[in-house]
Amino acid sequence: MTPRDEAHRLLAAGQEADVYLRPDGLLVKRSRAGRDPGPEAELMRYLRRHGLPVPRVADVSGADLVMEYIPGPRMSEEVDAKPWRAGALGRELAALHRRLDDLPAPDFLPGDGGLLHLDLHPGNVVLGPEGAVVVDWASARRGDRRVDVALSWMAMAVAPLRPLKRLARSRLLRGFLAGVDGGVRAAMPAAAAIRLARHHRDEAEVSAVRRLVADCSD
Ligand SMILES: Nc1ncnc2c1ncn2[C@@H]1O[C@H](COP(=O)(O)OP(=O)(O)O)[C@@H](O)[C@H]1O
Ligand SMILES: [Mg+2]
Repeated sequence: MTPRDEAHRLLAAGQEADVYLRPDGLLVKRSRAGRDPGPEAELMRYLRRHGLPVPRVADVSGADLVMEYIPGPRMSEEVDAKPWRAGALGRELAALHRRLDDLPAPDFLPGDGGLLHLDLHPGNVVLGPEGAVVVDWASARRGDRRVDVALSWMAMAVAPLRPLKRLARSRLLRGFLAGVDGGVRAAMPAAAAIRLARHHRDEAEVSAVRRLVADCSD
């Protein structure tokens, strides 16, 4: 830790970044790989202008993306703490996807087609005082919206869980699937390719992904 970091409270160590709370109440996201936070900040500003619930960007400096801190549990924590709400939370995640469906994709993103978050799972949704807020826009690009929905489905379906949590997950998924277009099934092979290429995946996960792809092609 540098002396500067000691004044910061580590809030989360995500897949790719460390997230700190600054004494002034703002949050700092810093990529461990030293990725330039500029594009993520530009997209978040664009999304806020278009009325999507994302944290307000305060500043970009060096490797730091400084933004509004949204107090509240992640949607994934809420599912664990209040499993009886899982169905409603799944519907809420589907509703966030419908808002993305309606949004004009920004020209400055790579690819073409609609706006894809590409990692819109319940760990990237913070349930703030004014509702659900979507974080972690670093992987966003343009493409087939159904692939984005399929990736969310896959993230929820393949995570290894203790048996006690499986009922909540199936309610979460049922709520989610009730709120999304059935065309998502056709996009599952493309979603699998993206997920398996992204990080190292263990054998159990690879077979869970393959099973889901097969189930969707029936
Ligand atoms: N603006 C924010 N307000 C509150 N919590 C946040 C905010 N941004 C990120 N977080 C928390 O930090 C975690 C990691 O940030 P994230 O952007 O998802 O990075 P990673 O790419 O490493 O997953 C998130 O899952 C969320 O819990
Ligand atoms: Mg994340």
